[in-house]
Amino acid sequence: MRGSDSGHAPHHQHSSTDALEVALTDDVLVVHGGAPLEGRIRVRGAKNLVSKAMVAALLGDTPSRLFDVPKIRDVEVVRGLLGLHGVKVTDGVEDGELVFDPANVESASTDQINVHAGSSRIPILFCGPLLHRLGHAFIPDLGGCHIGPRPIDFHLQALREFGATVDKRPEGLHLSAPNGLHGTKFALPYPSVGATEQVLLTAVMAEGVTELRNAAVEPEIIDLICILQKMGAIIKVHTDRVIEIQGVPKLHGYTHRPIPDRIEAASWAAAALATRGHVEVLGAQQADMMTFLNIFRSVGGEYEVTDARPPKLGDPGQEGGIRFWHPGGELNAVALETDVHPGFMTDWQQPLVVALTQARGLSIVHETVYEQRLGYTEALNSMGANIQVYRDCLGGTPCRFGRRNFKHSAVIAGPSKLHAADLVIPDLRAGFSHLIAALAAEGTSRVYGVDLINRGYEDFEAKLADLGAHVERP
Ligand code: EPZ
Repeated sequence: MRGSDSGHAPHHQHSSTDALEVALTDDVLVVHGGAPLEGRIRVRGAKNLVSKAMVAALLGDTPSRLFDVPKIRDVEVVRGLLGLHGVKVTDGVEDGELVFDPANVESASTDQINVHAGSSRIPILFCGPLLHRLGHAFIPDLGGCHIGPRPIDFHLQALREFGATVDKRPEGLHLSAPNGLHGTKFALPYPSVGATEQVLLTAVMAEGVTELRNAAVEPEIIDLICILQKMGAIIKVHTDRVIEIQGVPKLHGYTHRPIPDRIEAASWAAAALATRGHVEVLGAQQADMMTFLNIFRSVGGEYEVTDARPPKLGDPGQEGGIRFWHPGGELNAVALETDVHPGFMTDWQQPLVVALTQARGLSIVHETVYEQRLGYTEALNSMGANIQVYRDCLGGTPCRFGRRNFKHSAVIAGPSKLHAADLVIPDLRAGFSHLIAALAAEGTSRVYGVDLINRGYEDFEAKLADLGAHVERP
């Protein structure tokens, strides 16, 4: 193991050989912590919408155009997969613009598609569109972040409801729809984001009407519905998480500017708070972040929303965004629970917990979306934080994970002085929280496996530099 300026042994959240291998590579960022982040950065289209919008382009019979696409690895993976399926993807005129031409959609060989096995969960969403276009689909073993088992049973159940047959083989899933896909009435056991998207992408061209109950209604899903509607789909969002889709025989391409990335925006906001800094996030949108903003204010952070103003004669206009800062003094402990929209997002949890280590008193975080998303707190403890995790549902509503063996509630006692450590990044959001902790801590930390952050944070090293962070590649 490499030496460290901090004198601490690299801290591993889990003993997987994957993490150790990553730790041994040169993929390391040296972070000289203790200075506030100050400045302005910009967020572009939401990772968790953009990747789905790219898949939707497969359904059109004419080209689609997507703007504000961030340069992140998840986009590259989907771009590669679309290419393998005969969709020509080209850069548009505007920076961040992608054009998708689905004229030659065709089946790719299993070997080629397997190149992407393990690198993303998006391939599962190719099922519906491929079944419509080709009558069959092959989905390799899925990857994505290692946050619990992340099953796909809801997806497969939904596809079967539409009339698809699913053949599980060691190399992946082979699906076919010899008699086409037909509308169905279906209720999700839990409002899963991915499974709702699966149903939308399949139902829009299935014959007849589909009614999905207990659907997820995240802003990214509503934006996907907007895209599908632009393509010619008929989709009604009813109250109480019910979505009704009337299948149409044909869809055309779309032109769309996606909603901004509210997870990235909140991550930088949490970084501002944890480092006692001041960060303006251009592009951040208040409406999609209301729950985060309420918690941010309760913790003691301050923010100001700037509305966008289009340019007019004699007025250059103004880009909208949100300015986040630590007002000085002490932060307050809070109790929060992650939940599906409109609740507090599970992906906001990890960055914010770093700021909560600086709050006076006991904060409680009850994670109700994923059963194993608190493992990263061990790394924070190795830096001086005082976080205990529990199997009980603390601080609110009992959830699916209560009385089971999952440590899914955390109590954070603060304030704690964080000191530098050597850290190994376990997954995307936990990784960003490690980075924030290293920036907030006194001394020099080494963060191994930082490349994982490029999966979902565009140009994060350049943004760190813009915010005055003292980081370097060794
Ligand atoms: C999406 O994942 C996001 N990923 C996640 O962001 C996000 O954390 C999550 O939604 C929740 O908001 C993308 O959009 C690419 P789910 P998804 O299906 O769709 C269980 C990030 O860092 N479940 O809503 O995979 C599942 O285990 C990532 O950007 C089943 O049991 O999440 C989980 O407990 C991480 N069976 C819960 O539902 C299934 O078939 C919610 O998962 C599907 C899901």
